[in-house]
Amino acid sequence: MIDQHLPLARLADETAEKFQQRFGRPPQWVVAAPGRVNLIGEHTDYNDGFVLPMAIDRYTVLAAGRSPGGEPPRLRMVSGHKQGEAVIPLNIPLQPGQPAWANYVLGVAAGFAALGAPLASLDILVESNVPLGGGLSSSAALEVAAATLFEVVTGHRLDPVEKALLCQKAEHEFAGVPCGIMDQFTSALGRENHLLLLDCRSRQAELVPLSDPAVSVLIINTNVKHHLAGGEYARRRQQCEAAARHLRVRALRDAHLDQLKTQHDQMDPVVFRRARHVITEIGRTVRAATAIKASDWPEVGSLMYDSHDSLRDDYEVSCAELDEVVEIARKIGPGNGMIGCRMTGGGFGGCAVSVVQSAATRDIAKKIHGDYQQKTGIQPALFVSRPAAGATVLKA
Ligand code: GLA
Repeated sequence: MIDQHLPLARLADETAEKFQQRFGRPPQWVVAAPGRVNLIGEHTDYNDGFVLPMAIDRYTVLAAGRSPGGEPPRLRMVSGHKQGEAVIPLNIPLQPGQPAWANYVLGVAAGFAALGAPLASLDILVESNVPLGGGLSSSAALEVAAATLFEVVTGHRLDPVEKALLCQKAEHEFAGVPCGIMDQFTSALGRENHLLLLDCRSRQAELVPLSDPAVSVLIINTNVKHHLAGGEYARRRQQCEAAARHLRVRALRDAHLDQLKTQHDQMDPVVFRRARHVITEIGRTVRAATAIKASDWPEVGSLMYDSHDSLRDDYEVSCAELDEVVEIARKIGPGNGMIGCRMTGGGFGGCAVSVVQSAATRDIAKKIHGDYQQKTGIQPALFVSRPAAGATVLKA
């Protein structure tokens, strides 16, 4: 019931081998960047609030080498997942195009060019065991892996926060998603055995240890992705900005629940509810970090369920399948080792995250797998991850 996956070293070896097979020589560089899961603090990053994510031990790996005789300069990219290859000329202004997956790398290449660190011709082989489109930031993993590669190739080292910002810009401009900073920051700066309590305004992260072997993070992929996601994300952002303007604050981070309540009758009811989610979620995130530090698991669980309810009812970014997983988790309950569960990431499908007593993980996974499949007719995928380290260079 619990998916196993290749450890990073094996995935990196396989990627290097595929490079060798495809290009007839070993790669000069191999780099990796992880996906992420957010324990709590959803849709708060673009409101200057707090988030509490961790990098997961699933990675996007790039094996690369300079292309012999590569003039005019171009990136040749081959994906282990998608058919075909993408060849992108670098001697003309970089624009988003097809195939769509290549845009993440292209956006990062554009960022390096803008810094005065243009690329020469490269062959790149892309492999990943981050589930694609599952709300675990496969796109941020690809962007941060590309930035890590381009750092070693150009010799232009970035401060890690600057690197996360460059990748976020790539996502905005080349993938058209006005995302916050959480995903790229976590992929770049994740720390083994730690959650990051990230202040998305100051971009300072406090490390919150999650190293107790008795507690595990179990991720449940609903294996659905509803198409609303892109446009609805941008609309939520606009609604938050409208709420902040109404409340005359710089961002919803600066608003208080009491202040919001006094405006109830003057505000559009939908905008009011969006703001209520963000303001209460920021509070829950800070409290959850404190509770985790104190191993106060009942408090952690109740904050996770409250977060889910708020995302479902006030922010309206959940979906029937995510709600189903969370209901199954509630029924399993703390007596059977289920500490808490909620949707994670942007929403409208993708994954739920749960915190469980490690000893009960197998039984819980079996129960969720069976009940979810029975209720929805869909096979979920479940896996466990310890908090992992951020992007790394494996060969240079
Ligand atoms: C997506 C975005 C993040 C964040 C989450 C919701 O993952 O990329 O910046 O806004 O949604 O918390």
